[in-house]
Amino acid sequence: MQGFVIEGGKRLSGEVSVCGAKNAALPILAACVLTRSEVRLKNCPQLSDVFSAFKILSCLGCKCSFSDGEARIDSGVIESEYIPDKLMRLMRSSALYLGACLGRTGRCTLSYPGGCELGPRPIDLHLLALEKMGADISEEHGVIECSCPAGLHGAGISLSFPSVGATENIMLAAVCAAGETVIYNSAREPEIVDLARFLRKCGADISGEGSSVIRIKGVKELHGCTYEIMPDRIVAATYLCAAALTGGELTVRNTRPEDNRAVTDVLIETGLDIFSFDDKTYINAARPLKSVGRIRTMPYPGFPTDAQPLVSAVLTRAKGTSIIVENIFENRYKHNPELVRMGANIKTEGKVAVIEGVPMLFGTRIMAGDLRAGAALLIAALSAEGISELGNIEYIDRGYESIEKVFSKLGANIKRTVI
Ligand code: EPZ
Repeated sequence: MQGFVIEGGKRLSGEVSVCGAKNAALPILAACVLTRSEVRLKNCPQLSDVFSAFKILSCLGCKCSFSDGEARIDSGVIESEYIPDKLMRLMRSSALYLGACLGRTGRCTLSYPGGCELGPRPIDLHLLALEKMGADISEEHGVIECSCPAGLHGAGISLSFPSVGATENIMLAAVCAAGETVIYNSAREPEIVDLARFLRKCGADISGEGSSVIRIKGVKELHGCTYEIMPDRIVAATYLCAAALTGGELTVRNTRPEDNRAVTDVLIETGLDIFSFDDKTYINAARPLKSVGRIRTMPYPGFPTDAQPLVSAVLTRAKGTSIIVENIFENRYKHNPELVRMGANIKTEGKVAVIEGVPMLFGTRIMAGDLRAGAALLIAALSAEGISELGNIEYIDRGYESIEKVFSKLGANIKRTVI
């Protein structure tokens, strides 16, 4: 299998720039189905999930191309509203083509989305909202048939949970629906704000993004635009955690410090020196790490679940006891047993993980179980004594551009090979 061979113990230092955000690019690519003329996306990350989105767009009849970090999508003609199961299973955000196709053509046939196995990831909130907007939805043997012969209409939708995906799907369905849609208890993530800014640049009438109430007044149609995707806050957090674990010193460029406040506050609590200025974040891990008490993952602006595996890896080396409570996903501790193999002291029970800091981790053979778990194991291996073999790295490629090249430039000894 493909894997990384990592010789740990090398201190990371230097400068690194953050790529465009996967979790902003994916909903924006789905939104392109609604546009009648070409879209150009600058700072679009070159990730396997983005290429999966290209496959879905092409299947619908859109023309997609990529050149030096700019994606071009022409959705002038939509030839199909059917997405094959094998494409739907590639990632979670394939569910967003439901709202996009209904908004553009009034029909859509797809199956349940795939994505990292973080526990049951239903789309009941998505489907309930679309039905309120006039969609007829039937489901049989995993195939979901949707249509709205009279066209979608606006509605007041209260989300029982501020679901990122459900908020995005409703936004895509609402921008060309008849009348006004109001989303109450909407997700407030920076990626939602980026999607709203993109839609507005394409002619949508949308306001309130970033708050818990988003208002959308339907317009006749959307045109194309040129848009620059926001930087990836979780990739930025990954680099900061890698510096923390290796006792390194980094300047991370192309960041939006306010997006990562919850993460950097926790890292500062462990004793790290972190300063942000303009679009840069500087970190120096000059002192031994100390534990942080309790971390609870919450919807934005709370501590992000995507950074939980990464900070957990850091806390394995923090003197004292740290407690993590994972409130968003039911199964997001796949990294813990693998970190224990490396010598970490972690006890996991349901939503709670108790981490006792240890002086050192040791290289061994470890397996990624999902995207962020894989990233957590990678940065742990960078700090471990000895050689690690990390498998299932296709998970990591879903969310990080050539991560081994990035870390090699910062002083790590990491090779992509067969293990
Ligand atoms: C998005 O997933 C992100 N993925 C995830 O990032 C991120 O962890 C998550 O938001 C939370 O921030 C993308 O943007 C592609 P949710 P999503 O809908 O939309 C439950 C990564 O590593 N729920 O906010 O799936 C659901 O089961 C990935 O980059 C329902 O019950 O997140 C989960 O427990 C991992 N019914 C919780 O809500 C629904 O209809 C949060 O899900 C929808 C969600």
